[in-house]
Amino acid sequence: MARKQKKVFDTERKIRLGIWGLGRGLSFYRTCSFLNIEVVAGCDYNEHMRRRFLEMNPGAYATGNDEEFLKQDFDAVLLATYCPNHAQDALRCLRAGKHVLSEVTAFFTLAEGVELVEEVERTGLVYNLAENYPFTAANMYLARKWREGLFGELMYAEYEYVHEVRSLCYTYIDGVPVEPGWTVHAWRSWLNYHYYCTHSLGPVMVITGTRPTRVVALPGRQHLSGYLAAKSAGMGGVAPSLILMSNGGLMRNLMGATTNDSHIQRLWGTLGAAEIIPEIGLQLRLGGSGSSPKMLVNPSWDELGELAVKTGHGGGDFWVLYYFARQILTGQPAPFDVYSAADVTIPGILAFRSAQENGKAYDVPDFRDKRQRDIWRDDTWAQQPYDVKKGVFPETADKSITSQFTTVMKDLIRSSLQCRAYFDWAKVRKDLVEPEKYQSVVKKTAQEADQIVAAYQKARHLADAYPESDGARVLKEMLELGKEPLVSSPGFVAKLKREARKGSKKKPGARK
Ligand SMILES: NC(=O)c1ccc[n+]([C@@H]2O[C@H](COP(=O)([O-])OP(=O)(O)OC[C@H]3O[C@@H](n4cnc5c(N)ncnc54)[C@H](O)[C@@H]3O)[C@@H](O)[C@H]2O)c1
Repeated sequence: MARKQKKVFDTERKIRLGIWGLGRGLSFYRTCSFLNIEVVAGCDYNEHMRRRFLEMNPGAYATGNDEEFLKQDFDAVLLATYCPNHAQDALRCLRAGKHVLSEVTAFFTLAEGVELVEEVERTGLVYNLAENYPFTAANMYLARKWREGLFGELMYAEYEYVHEVRSLCYTYIDGVPVEPGWTVHAWRSWLNYHYYCTHSLGPVMVITGTRPTRVVALPGRQHLSGYLAAKSAGMGGVAPSLILMSNGGLMRNLMGATTNDSHIQRLWGTLGAAEIIPEIGLQLRLGGSGSSPKMLVNPSWDELGELAVKTGHGGGDFWVLYYFARQILTGQPAPFDVYSAADVTIPGILAFRSAQENGKAYDVPDFRDKRQRDIWRDDTWAQQPYDVKKGVFPETADKSITSQFTTVMKDLIRSSLQCRAYFDWAKVRKDLVEPEKYQSVVKKTAQEADQIVAAYQKARHLADAYPESDGARVLKEMLELGKEPLVSSPGFVAKLKREARKGSKKKPGARK
């Protein structure tokens, strides 16, 4: 529906945009209209995503063929393709004469990083990285106050991006199971979490105005069940690294998937400290000592905040698109140009390498300097990808059975985690401050019981068909996590439903 929008830029000039990758790529669409951006083309292999894109953008051009896409007449690409392909895809966009706003991360190897920097320099086109986490209200407020000197020099920071999304190994971002069903997600099924380092490092760089200069990490050996790339930890492990920043401060950059998603952000400066705990808000400790007064503050938005607040990731999605459009329209540089994109990407690559080499520290090159680029120009070191196309079953396997895998896995993950929550909360239910919360877990498990049992049966059938395969391994891991013998035992569903009925008759707050 056309609504009169506030005018952000004082020009009638329009930027014609193509979106490449219509999963995440579609999140930005609503913001475009008030930033002089017209979405004119979209590209994705997935037919269902193209259909959705065309519903949102009637009259736009949509294709599954990237060559045809890049031949179309538009100015800029919002690049949201597979994470490890971003540099290669960005290079193709630049060579087709298009400005690029690339999703994170910028590149997969340092050699690609050098090539990307030099292609941006050669073409003179705008390249921005869509790192959005620095641009929440709280982080932008901190950046402003940091520039004003309120916190002094950065001493230490702990920013984290702890986000467990097992199912995304087997589905696209919109929840649709990956096709063909015997394969797995192109990169979320295997990429080590160190690579995904920008949402936590990015904010520290922007707030404190520093860049990373040295990084070190140790190899953790624990991982969660149900993740394919268990040996290399993939996205099912934790990935903390320690980074020396250019002012001599340190930061602990924590990424990973474990059992407690969290986005706690803490900064200690020589004059004051800040702490963002999402459930509490932004607290400052000002006064220069460890025990100085600590208070909650209301982080006011920068100008245009009322537009940003309507968009995803706490407004961050607005700002990255705004900076990109502003740079194209006015020439004013965005925070994440190709050099700071390199600054924020390289520590992830080198942290993973450091962990693989049992804690060898690496200097983080500054790709603004050609001599430093020359050192890394041919460095193609990278994590070995999982052979996604081959899939998780033997090539000779009956595809009419194995094509069910991603759908079965999606349902199994949901089911086994629901059951595990039910069994484990039962062990502490008498200690609960709010016992009715346990009842809601019982109720939900009971409501889904029939689907849960069906999911377990399908998973068992598939795992037993090819028991030595990687597919069977992850299915069995999730069945074990979800206590298959208990859930499959006769009478389990009836007992669960009885418990749910009994619980719902009790008065809220009753302890027994
Ligand atoms: N900043 C954030 O908050 C945020 C959030 C989610 C995702 N992301 C990033 O955005 C990117 C995309 O995310 P996603 O979840 O949609 O990931 P994804 O890997 O599932 O999606 C990539 C999409 O691009 C399509 N694609 C890839 N290469 C193509 C090609 N050559 N031709 C046609 N289509 C192609 C795929 O079919 C797929 O739908 C990722 O790199 C991710 O890191 C960022």
